[in-house]
Amino acid sequence: MPREPSFEATYEAPPNIALVKYWGLRNRARAIPFNSSISVTLDRLRSRTTVRFDPTLANDRVELNGSVATGGPRDGVVRFLDRVRELAKVTYAAEVRSENNFPTASGLASSASGFAALAGAATSALGLRLSGRELSRLARFGSGSASRSVFGGFVEWRAGLEPDGSDCYARPLFGPEHWPALVDLVLIVKAAPVKTVRSEEAMQSTVATSPTYAHRLAELPVRLRKIRAAIGARDSRRLFPLVMEECDSFREVCETTRPSLDYLTTTSRALLAEVRTINREAGRPVAAYTHDAGAHLHIFTLAKDAAKVRRRLARLPGVERTALLHPGPGGRLVR
Ligand code: DP6
Repeated sequence: MPREPSFEATYEAPPNIALVKYWGLRNRARAIPFNSSISVTLDRLRSRTTVRFDPTLANDRVELNGSVATGGPRDGVVRFLDRVRELAKVTYAAEVRSENNFPTASGLASSASGFAALAGAATSALGLRLSGRELSRLARFGSGSASRSVFGGFVEWRAGLEPDGSDCYARPLFGPEHWPALVDLVLIVKAAPVKTVRSEEAMQSTVATSPTYAHRLAELPVRLRKIRAAIGARDSRRLFPLVMEECDSFREVCETTRPSLDYLTTTSRALLAEVRTINREAGRPVAAYTHDAGAHLHIFTLAKDAAKVRRRLARLPGVERTALLHPGPGGRLVR
């Protein structure tokens, strides 16, 4: 007997931080990126989303962190719901309530956790029982990075080869328990500019205008292979320089975009320099920096070095807050 859809479900999904960045779509309508990307799913932080489809509702109602969403944020959710409705062959409007247990403005990738949670909740509410792979394939239409938040630990989103995007989804490389000593020290900087352009728009202007984008793409297959191998071997000495090289490459294509995309503040730049100094002084890669399209930094280090690195970086002027995170589990259905 097919299961009766309950029309309501709640799903929780974590954010992730990319070690190899997704930045540029080969096919925008099908949400197929130019390159594969690799991320770490983070523990403790969660988006929790409840979706209730209701045949008596006239319009979708979207509430994000206690406020009714309008404009762009609402439109993104409604477009995503349309895709789910099409899959389930229903036309009901929905009520969506989503909350993050971390500040949205903190730059901790709330679109990744948010759309992964929305994909899980909306499909479950309509009785579509998607596998992790199917959920990831769907979540990428909300936000590319959301495809990776479905899974825990170390995750790779494969760009795939099929023109229709059928092999474009994320899969876990290693579970969260693979490397318990790896720590992500998040540094929240003061006066971080609020993102006005969605990454999906910004990255397409990089594709169209950055003279160094083709070079970045040419380098990526080798870097992806090396990063996969370094994670597999839990080898921070190999991994950390690669993570910084990748972050620098991402920043370079952003800065050479016309008009230029500059996501960092003076404090973020001082922190990048301080991490380089720490490594130079130690004569080994103690830490690695990375950042997304925002001013806050993620510093990877090992548990044994974390306290020292934190003390050293937290004292820089302009650092508002620090948090120690670890690889964590993926998304899950709450009810
Ligand atoms: C730099 O898929 O999160 O974080 O939803 O428009 O924000 P928006 O796009 P999203 O872009 C991710 C860009 C990135 C790199 C990454 O996470 O791979």
